[in-house]
Amino acid sequence: MSKIVLLEKIHPNALAHLASFGLTDVVQMPGALSGPELLAALADADAVGIRSRTHLTAEVLATLPRLKTVGCFCIGTNQVDLAAAAMHGVPVFNAPYSNTRSVAELVIAQAILLLRRIPEKNARAHRGVWDKNAQGAFEVRNKVIGIIGYGNIGAQVGILAESVGMRVIYFDPENKLPLGNATPVFSLQALLEQADIVTLHVPGLRSTENIMNAERIAQMKPSAVLINASRGNVVDIDALDRALRDKKLAGAAIDVFPLEPSSEKEPFVSPLLDLDNVILTPHIGGSTEEAQENIGLEVADKLARFLLAGTTKSAVNFPEVAHQDKGAFSRVLHVHRNEPGVIARMNLQFAQFGLNIVAQQLQTRGALGYAVTDVDGPIPQPLIDALQKDAATIRCRRV
Ligand code: NAI
Repeated sequence: MSKIVLLEKIHPNALAHLASFGLTDVVQMPGALSGPELLAALADADAVGIRSRTHLTAEVLATLPRLKTVGCFCIGTNQVDLAAAAMHGVPVFNAPYSNTRSVAELVIAQAILLLRRIPEKNARAHRGVWDKNAQGAFEVRNKVIGIIGYGNIGAQVGILAESVGMRVIYFDPENKLPLGNATPVFSLQALLEQADIVTLHVPGLRSTENIMNAERIAQMKPSAVLINASRGNVVDIDALDRALRDKKLAGAAIDVFPLEPSSEKEPFVSPLLDLDNVILTPHIGGSTEEAQENIGLEVADKLARFLLAGTTKSAVNFPEVAHQDKGAFSRVLHVHRNEPGVIARMNLQFAQFGLNIVAQQLQTRGALGYAVTDVDGPIPQPLIDALQKDAATIRCRRV
């Protein structure tokens, strides 16, 4: 049976989910590991689950020939040398969408709080001021929310916004199917001029850097509010600060910053600190118990499907092969260098061992090829040995 090592306090539902696939040889360790301790812990592991603090470098991966797959129980995968993992035939999985709903809910809450001027009222109440003034406080019903980036989170924000009565417009350079009554607009300026709430859900690319600069902020209505829970470098914070102080904008909620402290011990510095009409949060848009639970399930599922069936759908560094039940057939997983003749030689081997191929999926990604082959009889070890000997083979196993 495959041995799985889970580091860094992964949610217990991952363990239960692996067990539901019959994967019960699981060792859990609370902290991150490095150096010889990491190598010792993973020496006989078939799979490892980590979060952000365990670093799987090319050197570490090179010393773990048994390791078949890595599950990052988080969103980011920078802690793993993805190219090195791929060239060892090790697919890496993560949970990119487990916290979509958490971010979307926070954005809706922030939209409501900002339009009601709650951040200022809250700050004044904390200072002993009883400010009951209704001026400048609005319901969100019938207000226009302008979503920049209509991807997974943006579209979810649109659905939730509509359910509390907002009118949804969005701008996305890609042609995205509008959900509900959302309406695409075809320029950022058109969105900025119409929206009462502008919310950013774009990726961190060079093309999105400072997408909300002084000029763009000036295109927003002075009564509008700006929300950013996407990436820290998409809003020019100094330009936002000036617009807020000059009353060119009514408020903002910012969850991500160009410079974020790496821990609680480092101070958080921003020009926005003394502005009562700004909600500041420490990059917690996706940080909920539910998101952690979802991550536990999503990544455990991907590890189990790979170990038991070779499925690599949504791997971040590997050719993607969709899940297919192998039923009563036997399956060979073959990772190879992507060059001419590999599949022909492999299929000849199957024939020489008297095995008929009943299904075969091949996907390639750059220098890597991955073939999943189902055959109509048991796969003998000498066949695996023969496939392993092929000069182009990186890794080969049967499931
Ligand atoms: P996604 O990839 O599903 O959607 C991004 C969308 O932005 C795509 O539809 C894309 O076409 C669009 N886009 C790209 N360039 C654009 C541009 N110049 N103008 C307008 N739209 C543009 O990504 P997802 O999952 O919705 O995440 C969105 C952002 O939220 C990412 O930056 C992600 O890192 C961030 N995020 C933040 C979290 C937090 O804790 N605050 C948690 C999770 C995600």
